[in-house]
Amino acid sequence: MANQGHSAAEIVFDRATKVYRGAPGPAVDGLSMTVPAGEICVLLGPSGSGKTTALTMVNRLVELTSGDIRIDGVSVGEQDATGLRRRIGYVIQQIGLFPHMTIEENVATVPQVLGWKRDRVRDRVRELLDLVGLPPREYGGRYPAQLSGGQRQRVGIARALAADPPVMLMDEPFGALDPITRERIQDEFLRLHEQVRKTTLFVSHDMDEAVKMGDRIAIFREGGHLVQYDTPERILTAPVDDFVARFVGADRGLKALTLRRLADLALEPAGAAPDTAPLAATETLHTALSALMASSADRLPVADGDGRVVGTVTLDLIRAEAGRPSPDEDHRAEADAGPADGEVA
Ligand SMILES: Nc1ncnc2c1ncn2[C@@H]1O[C@H](COP(=O)(O)OP(=O)(O)O)[C@@H](O)[C@H]1O
Ligand SMILES: [Mg+2]
Repeated sequence: MANQGHSAAEIVFDRATKVYRGAPGPAVDGLSMTVPAGEICVLLGPSGSGKTTALTMVNRLVELTSGDIRIDGVSVGEQDATGLRRRIGYVIQQIGLFPHMTIEENVATVPQVLGWKRDRVRDRVRELLDLVGLPPREYGGRYPAQLSGGQRQRVGIARALAADPPVMLMDEPFGALDPITRERIQDEFLRLHEQVRKTTLFVSHDMDEAVKMGDRIAIFREGGHLVQYDTPERILTAPVDDFVARFVGADRGLKALTLRRLADLALEPAGAAPDTAPLAATETLHTALSALMASSADRLPVADGDGRVVGTVTLDLIRAEAGRPSPDEDHRAEADAGPADGEVA
């Protein structure tokens, strides 16, 4: 796709700290983590734990008190704040679209500021509206008030992507949407991210959203402390302490099933299953569990990509997986594995 840039940048937080004037303590306290280029990092934690502050230190809406944040090795503090913000897409919960401007004009804002030629701006805007599922012919000439909440968030994403920034900051971007719209727009964003691969910092307070969206999850607690920075699977199966374990929730055994696929299991032999439609080996254990419950069977065949039955999945196998820690897991999580077992039964 033309101009569908693959620019992405590594973001390094290096003891980044923010103490607001008059505050008794830091809002973000010595945050150190590296977000690899092209990944989605979800900042997760309770209200007031410093997620928004961490995010806005990147585009300098909030200035660091100490420490550093580097984008591809360059400190944000060394960059002109306005120029920096043009190279960082920013999406917030209540997208501030310009009400008196059409959707096309809204999306064109940054490329126009950057002085792109008129044709290039027009092509880019149309391309982006298509990409976020708003055909420009139908939507380009409308005004924000003529769109639904979900459509407005999509325009916000298109506008943030318009100048092909290497970094996207998204602060609870789907928080105000109803659950069905939120699911759909999450799926769309993931599909979009497959294509454009921006390094994305995504603030959420919803564990399910974090597991779905994040390549990695950074869990914050009060006082702006980063408590765990890890893959969703590790967060679910090996929380570093009780705070994370509680935050992840009692149903983490079930959630962990959404991360494992039938192909990862040591299946029982192929002949052991009833002669019913097989599950694809690429399906998650969560899907397999639903299928088992729907069919009232305690076992189902599993097929490879060619439709060949390669084994049998049983309720017992899934139950064991729900409670099983990862092979490299620590003692704590092993000790916790018991209760998770019971939840699926
Ligand atoms: N502009 C500000 N001035 C003073 N304190 C602030 C400001 N913004 C946030 N805070 C405080 O900093 C802490 C972290 O806030 P915030 O980063 O918004 O957390 P979160 O996004 O996780 O809810 C909170 O205690 C909040 O009250
Ligand atoms: Mg916030």
